Amino acid sequence: MDAQAIIGKKRDGLSLNIDEINWFCNGLASGQVSDAQAGAFAMAITINDMNNNELTALTEGMLKSGSTLKWDLPGPVLDKHSTGGVGDCVSLLLAPALAACGAFVPMVSGRGLGYTGGTLDKLDAITGYKTQVSTVNFKKVVKEVGCAIVSASNEIAPADKRLYAIRDVTGTVENIALISSSILSKKLASGVEGLILDIKSGSGAVMPNLKAATSLAKRMVEIGQQSGCSTSAFITNMDQPLASSAGNALEVMTAMNCLTMHKVDSRLFKLTVSLGGSLLKNAKISRSVKDGEKMIRDSIESGLAVEKFGKMVCALGGPGNFIDRYRDLLPEAATIVEVKSQSAGYVSQIDVKRLGMVVVSLGGGRRQQDDKLDLSVGLDQFLPLGEKVSVGSVLARVHGRDEDAVLNVINIVRQAYNISEAAPEKTESIIKRIGK
Ligand code: URA
Repeated sequence: MDAQAIIGKKRDGLSLNIDEINWFCNGLASGQVSDAQAGAFAMAITINDMNNNELTALTEGMLKSGSTLKWDLPGPVLDKHSTGGVGDCVSLLLAPALAACGAFVPMVSGRGLGYTGGTLDKLDAITGYKTQVSTVNFKKVVKEVGCAIVSASNEIAPADKRLYAIRDVTGTVENIALISSSILSKKLASGVEGLILDIKSGSGAVMPNLKAATSLAKRMVEIGQQSGCSTSAFITNMDQPLASSAGNALEVMTAMNCLTMHKVDSRLFKLTVSLGGSLLKNAKISRSVKDGEKMIRDSIESGLAVEKFGKMVCALGGPGNFIDRYRDLLPEAATIVEVKSQSAGYVSQIDVKRLGMVVVSLGGGRRQQDDKLDLSVGLDQFLPLGEKVSVGSVLARVHGRDEDAVLNVINIVRQAYNISEAAPEKTESIIKRIGK
């Protein structure tokens, strides 16, 4: 078998068999497949898609490209993963909150993908925090602290680790087969018993519409269940940034402000509570979703969750005083400028993808695989949908490395906001639930 023939078959719209898919996944993990071939493979899939058998084979192929972790812990092993959004820092809140409720969370996360932010890039804003750790260390931290957020590795889903980085810079993020195999391979490889998927829909979501999001959610829930992992999904709204900020250090700041109850971002907090409540109920830690939600809320309000976060940071190489000193320890951009509205009315639409692209163009996301990120840049103080604005109201703030960088994007941010006379209809964060 060779890479050219496999890529050519997919390019011509034919289906790949299990052996071909396994060969490619192993080639990704071993390095036998080059970056160019991996990019071409991803593009052929993006254009011609995969049928259900191919999708299952790709998930298993990526999963088996490394080893599967086994756990023997005094509580259920749980996780959540999102298909990616703007201002989506739920993982930073939910992992420690679940740990504070008695679950164990070996969270294998990703870097930014396209215009969507990545949990690992956000954690890089914490000096010393190591996202790349040995499996022995990963297991030790999960056992001792209750949660650890790390990267896929040469041992855990190495094929995904490689393909993920290549997809980020080759315009091949938006495909159901690539997204589901990427997420499920690393989640199943990390040995979780219970998983909740947060599938985004809306102007900042990778899935173009609710139909595509529903189809992705159903397929992923099915594959997760078939693999013995209790899997359910929420389809959630990405018609506006989830939190009030987007950018790596800025989102850590937002998450820490929530975890410490210093300043709570209500939509971020509510979604974290809902996702966690469902997971706790499915894992039988709580009797009902409502009880589970209360447990998550209490874990944050009581300070137990932030304590777990601090222990995780310290165990993974970050500062021991992070939760007390995060405001001084996170990097800050040199220039911060307010973007003001030029019209009055209500925020009726937000082009979330455009805002995500602004973060990338400020240097907060990658255009090339080896790009070094500026972790301090991004946007904050987003005005949410439905908010009444006057001329001069602040729509958002831009954090950039210098004045030129900021001036380049101010108009783009303004144009991402649609202001109209009438207030828009209220939308709920959670659109649908799939599975238990
Ligand atoms: N998260 C992943 O891990 N992979 C994707 O493709 C999208 C989101």
